[in-house]
Amino acid sequence: MIFFRRRNKKIRVGDRIGVLTSGGDCPGMNAALRGIIMAGHAAGLEVLGIKNGYQGLIDGNHLYYDHFGNIYREIDHKYYAMDGRRDFISDLGQAVQTYDHVAFRKMSYLDKFLPDERGFLFLKPALMEGLKLEISLSLYPLGREIADELISRGGTLLDSSRCDTFKTPAGFNKALSTLREHQIQGVIVLGGDGSMRGALKLNDHLPTVGIPSSIDNDVWGTEMALGVDTAVNTIVESCDKISDTAASHHRTFVVEVMGRDCGYLAVISCLAAGADAVVFRERNVSEESIINEICRHILAEYRLDRKKTKFLIILSENTKLSGEELNSAIQSRLNPDLPEFTLRLTTLGHVVRGGSPTAFDRLLGVRFGYASVQLLLNGESGVMIGWKGKGESVKPLSFDQDLTRASLKTVSRQSKTLKDKKATLTQLFAIHQEMMCYKLNI
Ligand code: ADP
Ligand code: F6P
Repeated sequence: MIFFRRRNKKIRVGDRIGVLTSGGDCPGMNAALRGIIMAGHAAGLEVLGIKNGYQGLIDGNHLYYDHFGNIYREIDHKYYAMDGRRDFISDLGQAVQTYDHVAFRKMSYLDKFLPDERGFLFLKPALMEGLKLEISLSLYPLGREIADELISRGGTLLDSSRCDTFKTPAGFNKALSTLREHQIQGVIVLGGDGSMRGALKLNDHLPTVGIPSSIDNDVWGTEMALGVDTAVNTIVESCDKISDTAASHHRTFVVEVMGRDCGYLAVISCLAAGADAVVFRERNVSEESIINEICRHILAEYRLDRKKTKFLIILSENTKLSGEELNSAIQSRLNPDLPEFTLRLTTLGHVVRGGSPTAFDRLLGVRFGYASVQLLLNGESGVMIGWKGKGESVKPLSFDQDLTRASLKTVSRQSKTLKDKKATLTQLFAIHQEMMCYKLNI
């Protein structure tokens, strides 16, 4: 179903663009929204926020009805009557189902309605009070005033979701019809690699630009995704705190951090927090070797320096060993040699995904947001913004040489393997191991 104009069409003054945040939320999404709103308004665009990621496009907007059973839709705070097909609509549930097919109509009773700039008629304000609210608003204009509240806020103003329905033909078509009904000419999608795959599909129908946003840093085409810096800082701060109590009790701690498909957070945080060991999936060694190696290091630490009071292990989520398994394997292996040895597990979980963004993430967010609007205005779509990304199809932007863009197609394909990030992790891990072995003389 192709009903939009060509996808490399330039977005122009007066056009309406939509923005959504999808997948796992992350700090910096709101900063990017600020960039989009400011750049969009400065360019004379109307910026529509879409709630709950792709789910918002499937849900569409509120329907209202009055006590005569007339149904109305709200757009830009005006209430438009739906066309005569409501004769077929026996209840509001069905109205939602036939939502796609319902158009606005010009009605004759002008005493109730006012014309808008397009000639459509909307309900006079005094009559709106009689309306009853039925379904929630998923699309609404993002005014410039909202931008002022955004820069320091974690999470996402627009809310997010994981939406399997969007992957189905019916769900996707529903999303397209919502975009059409709201006359949206271009879309900006913030999210991880999954969301970029969704953006790639949208781009077949209307200009779409992606902004990599995921604390996991598992999106190809950008050195850093939004949220990563804040997440690493949160982990490091937590490790510092855990180290205080670990040292006081002469304990070893396993700290588990997020990273479903990528050990980036674990490896980087290990170096930044000065942790003693890190376990991450990309290393791909057996459970036995991991346990042997860590136990060897712990024993060496305690023999090397009797004042050593703590040992910190960072464990990436979704590795072969769970936190509990790693914990009990080390405990039982070491107790014969170190009877006093105790070990605790802390899972940081979603704590790492929240919080106010660091200055780095704020800056990256605002620049990503600004750049995404410029790309749409330049007629460049089907791409994702990146920061000093690598790879052949990644080119610097003319107006911001620190930023790059890669085609959404390449991003979607390459994120599955992420060879460049795996190589970086392996290199960083090798540095860590070398430092540890030098220190422990093993
Ligand atoms: P993230 O974007 O953080 O990687 P997900 O992988 O859960 O998170 O993807 C977020 C959403 O993006 C999904 O719930 C779905 O709506 C959409 N999406 C993911 N993969 C695809 C795909 N192949 N085609 C269309 N939409 C997709
Ligand atoms: O945002 C990415 C991520 O944080 C992964 O590291 C983690 O496994 C996943 O999201 C969990 O997200 P949720 O609880 O929303 O499913």
